[in-house]
Amino acid sequence: MKFKTTPYHHDLLKDKDRLSVFWQAIQEYDSSTELAYDLGCGSGVLSYFLSSKFDEIIAIEMDNKASKCAKDNLADFGNVKVINGNVLDYEFSKKADLIVCEMLDTALVDEEEVPVLNYAKQFLKEDGKIIPQEIINTAELVNLERHHIHWDEDVNYEVFSKPVVYSQINFLDDINPDFKADLKLKTNRAGLINGLKITTYTKLDDNIIAGPTPMLNPPLLVPLPDKQVNINDFINVEIKYIMGNGIESIETRYL
Ligand SMILES: C[S@@+](CC[C@H](N)C(=O)[O-])C[C@H]1O[C@@H](n2cnc3c(N)ncnc32)[C@H](O)[C@@H]1O
Repeated sequence: MKFKTTPYHHDLLKDKDRLSVFWQAIQEYDSSTELAYDLGCGSGVLSYFLSSKFDEIIAIEMDNKASKCAKDNLADFGNVKVINGNVLDYEFSKKADLIVCEMLDTALVDEEEVPVLNYAKQFLKEDGKIIPQEIINTAELVNLERHHIHWDEDVNYEVFSKPVVYSQINFLDDINPDFKADLKLKTNRAGLINGLKITTYTKLDDNIIAGPTPMLNPPLLVPLPDKQVNINDFINVEIKYIMGNGIESIETRYL
């Protein structure tokens, strides 16, 4: 099927690894099949995947152009209703069996996955599911060339520690968007460190975990003050951010 899209949603569609994990998770979903919500439906591609499994799909997208594309793309699918609006203002009238919400970004800082799901999951049946199910965040010490927060896209950096898991967020839980963690990282070489690399893994369901892809959570590089380290030093770092408030909300400091 050929999709009408905006340039941004076209890049999302071109990322075949991102699409294939969502496709697989939706194929593996085999509970009740009455109603699904597709929150932030973009071009409508995930509603298209859902359309053969559900009696009714309500797809919500706040970007006017993208929702117009989704309406056109899904016009022949009588079981999909596309709504142009903000999920946070939408008055849900029924509880769904499944919520699909791909407003993901690294550590969930920049996009609205957490505020949207905190609101929308009141409209999920008690035994309902969410795709993706969970995310896992890791951090590594690095030496960065650039001294501002940036994505891992065509940039150089050197890694100074193994990754440690510092948070795991299950979307069925009530999530406090105000996040703070104290990290303890062990250096595996001597030299100058000046940053953290944050990587997010996405658990789509019990069987599928996706690593970063170009359009699904490319790692985030966050500066720290310069620090000379030896091999096997323990470096303690505090990281704070507000999920959904943008990467400007990220603060890091040595403890
Ligand atoms: C990463 S894109 C995913 C699009 C599509 N689901 C896909 O997988 O190709 C996230 C989408 O969520 C939309 N979005 C973000 N916050 C929203 C909100 N509060 N209400 C409705 N849509 C929202 C964005 O406009 C964007 O189109």
